[in-house]
Amino acid sequence: MLIDNHNRKINYLRLAVTDRCNLRCNYCMPEAGINFAENNKLLSIEELITVSENLVELGIDKIRITGGEPFVRKDLMVLMRKLAGIKALKDISVTTNATLIGNHIDELKALGITNINLSLDAIDKETFEKITRRSQYEIVHRNLLRLIDEDFNIRINFVVLDGQNTQDILPILELTKHHNVSVRFLEEMPFNGGSRTFNTIKWDYKYILEYIQTKYPDITLIPSEKTSTSINYKIKNHVGSFGLIPSFSRTFCGSCNRLRISATGDVITCLYGKPVANIREVLRAHQAKENLRDEIQKAISTRAANGFEAQQQNRGVFDNSMTSIGG
Ligand code: 5AD
Ligand code: SF4
Repeated sequence: MLIDNHNRKINYLRLAVTDRCNLRCNYCMPEAGINFAENNKLLSIEELITVSENLVELGIDKIRITGGEPFVRKDLMVLMRKLAGIKALKDISVTTNATLIGNHIDELKALGITNINLSLDAIDKETFEKITRRSQYEIVHRNLLRLIDEDFNIRINFVVLDGQNTQDILPILELTKHHNVSVRFLEEMPFNGGSRTFNTIKWDYKYILEYIQTKYPDITLIPSEKTSTSINYKIKNHVGSFGLIPSFSRTFCGSCNRLRISATGDVITCLYGKPVANIREVLRAHQAKENLRDEIQKAISTRAANGFEAQQQNRGVFDNSMTSIGG
């Protein structure tokens, strides 16, 4: 079992499979993109499988595939098939922008991989294309409806951006009226590849909730797991639900059960911290499995207590993008 230096059980791996993305969401990357890693610095599918299998043996029972955009990787389904066959893995999920998932929906369903987090920061086409700097609204919308139809467990991630998409908060909640989806509103974090810096946000989770309550006063709290990062609510007479993710306020660090591995093999024990190790060369050298396990054990024995402490150790500098950290 993986237990960190603050006595938290680590059972959840967020594994990035690429730092590339076919969108350019302005809160994630500058217009010109970031310095993407060279191909040989990305972990191969075999290496990603080795990491997954070994970490499951150490006690990981939940893996989320992230990126970048996971489906820009042509060989992604090779990994998904393998993961689906690991018995001790109770939960496999994917975070995607849903532009490229269309051809894989049937196979994902057949594999039983039905937990999908879909990034959708606007319900209005123009706003969506302005934020993502690409013209992909129709395909995303079509894939979202298909996934809902096929009974996938869909969570929509909506990053609340002051002055950009707050007028879509109430309209996107309409989706929950007739569809069993959860719309989760995320506080914006300063990981945007250095295009913008900020130390405070207006739209924190409390402000978002108050705003939602102006239209929907009749909401009830849904009990969540202790390790959950979202505070979830049900609107009266809506089939779906909504949630708030205090990713900037960081109220959930005390029960953090997560470990991140970036597409280049960086081991990240807190989003707000710097990578504490890199396993790429470890995986490519002798005794890969033993050394990999040692590196992971070492990494989780020096975790910051919370995102504020990690930020301090980081000297508060944010020059990174979510696309290289891996969601
Ligand atoms: N702030 C908050 N969320 C972000 N994401 C990417 N960049 C940021 C940011 N700066 C979200 C994406 C996606 C998830 C992987 O992380 O919208 O849903
Ligand atoms: Fe791509 Fe997601 Fe970043 Fe948007 S937020 S550019 S979809 S990785």
